[in-house]
Amino acid sequence: MKVLGIDGSPREGKGNTEIVVRKALDVCKGNGLETEFVAISDLKVEYCDHCNDCLTEPKCSKDDDVESILERMEEADAIIIGSPTYFGSVPGKLKSLLDRTVVLRRHGLKLSGKIGGAIVVGGSRNGGQEFTIMTIRNWMLMQEMLVVGDKETAHFGGICVGRKRGEVLGDKEGIKTVENLGKKMVEVLKRD
Ligand SMILES: Cc1cc2nc3c(=O)[nH]c(=O)nc-3n(C[C@H](O)[C@H](O)[C@H](O)COP(=O)(O)O)c2cc1C
Repeated sequence: MKVLGIDGSPREGKGNTEIVVRKALDVCKGNGLETEFVAISDLKVEYCDHCNDCLTEPKCSKDDDVESILERMEEADAIIIGSPTYFGSVPGKLKSLLDRTVVLRRHGLKLSGKIGGAIVVGGSRNGGQEFTIMTIRNWMLMQEMLVVGDKETAHFGGICVGRKRGEVLGDKEGIKTVENLGKKMVEVLKRD
């Protein structure tokens, strides 16, 4: 069983989203699951412009790094999407990646049945993390994924506060929601 963690922050270098996505993956790995980490800051991600080439072809005609991410999504049994909050939503680069998965929906709903979990970091305590996490969870539902939350901490997944790099580690309450999301993924993936 493989869990793919995607760091959807466009900020280069190790930021808060990377820290929390890796934390959730560590919980999965510690419980015997295979994990893989991808940061989109290192990758070229063009936006979907509704060219509709993927209505006829099973792949996107754009020449960038998205195809390799989509392949990893297809291989995974579960996907964790991590995002910073930008003006109360996901950053444009991550939204572009989510939009580009339309080819997987159009050609056999390839993400259907995979387990999905979301983690969001914002610089302010009430900076729009819940709207942001719902954007990701809505994408998962529209891809027919099975969305999990964070057990007894009972938010909508991992929700954290942190602005400067590494600051998220000081949000003990938020880190607990991230660890619980990882535990919930393990629980669901290991169901009989
Ligand atoms: C353009 C921009 C918009 C932002 N908007 C918000 C916001 O609406 N709410 C919030 O709490 N933080 C906001 N932030 C702060 C980031 O969410 C925060 O610094 C986060 O930790 C960045 O994650 P990263 O280190 O993984 O890139 C914004 C940052 C930027 C650059």
